[in-house]
Amino acid sequence: MSQIRGVVLAGGKGTRLGELTKVTNKHLLPVGPIPMVYHPLHKMVGAGLKDILLVSGTEHMGDFVELLGSGKDHKCSLTYRVQDEAGGIAQALGLAETFCAGNRCLVILGDNIFEAPVTGLVSQAGKKPDWAWIGLKQVHDPGRYGVAELKGDRVIGIEEKPKNPKSDYAVIGIYIYPSDVFEVIRTLKPSGRGELEITDVNNHYLKAGRLGYSIIDGYWTDAGTLDSLQFANQLVREKPPIF
Ligand code: G1P
Repeated sequence: MSQIRGVVLAGGKGTRLGELTKVTNKHLLPVGPIPMVYHPLHKMVGAGLKDILLVSGTEHMGDFVELLGSGKDHKCSLTYRVQDEAGGIAQALGLAETFCAGNRCLVILGDNIFEAPVTGLVSQAGKKPDWAWIGLKQVHDPGRYGVAELKGDRVIGIEEKPKNPKSDYAVIGIYIYPSDVFEVIRTLKPSGRGELEITDVNNHYLKAGRLGYSIIDGYWTDAGTLDSLQFANQLVREKPPIF
């Protein structure tokens, strides 16, 4: 079986955080006693990943390197890749092609904070390594996210930020892809918001009959808005996540 490489996506302007991201990157802000980016990184290390790529923009890449270095202090080996312009999650993932070098990848969005380790999803995905795997979580405001429509135990459709969500299952920011994901990304067209959407990648695997999912245990939130950043801090303070 091929190895799994880790990809942490830590780009974007963080504009929804207003003044907090005027001089720094969102993923360097604190969530609990650690910078936000430690959360996805330590989840990956906890799941046994050793080789991890961090993708971010030019503005703050130096800060990430200063903070994380070679990865030695975090028990992993880090590689950094600059995203010249923010063009969506799928575009950022496309930059990981050479790094992944024919291996599968575990992708975590740098602002996703969750309680449980990701080992369950990783071992489930290992049973069908040529499938794409997504994590789902029931939320009270699904219209903010990618939303999965379920029928029995199958996902039958995913919509990005739908006005009328067909379920309350959000597709959270953790994905496992087979090595052909980069070919899929090359076929994508920008969405209405001008981005290459990860939802389009997931729908590609869905249509091909190669999409699996796992409902994630414990709490989950993103931390990209003032409210959700505060909520993430509250959750982590009350119950530290398990890496
Ligand atoms: C992105 C994805 C969305 C996913 C969410 C999870 O949204 O496009 O499908 O549910 O992350 O955090 P964005 O943060 O770009 O609004």
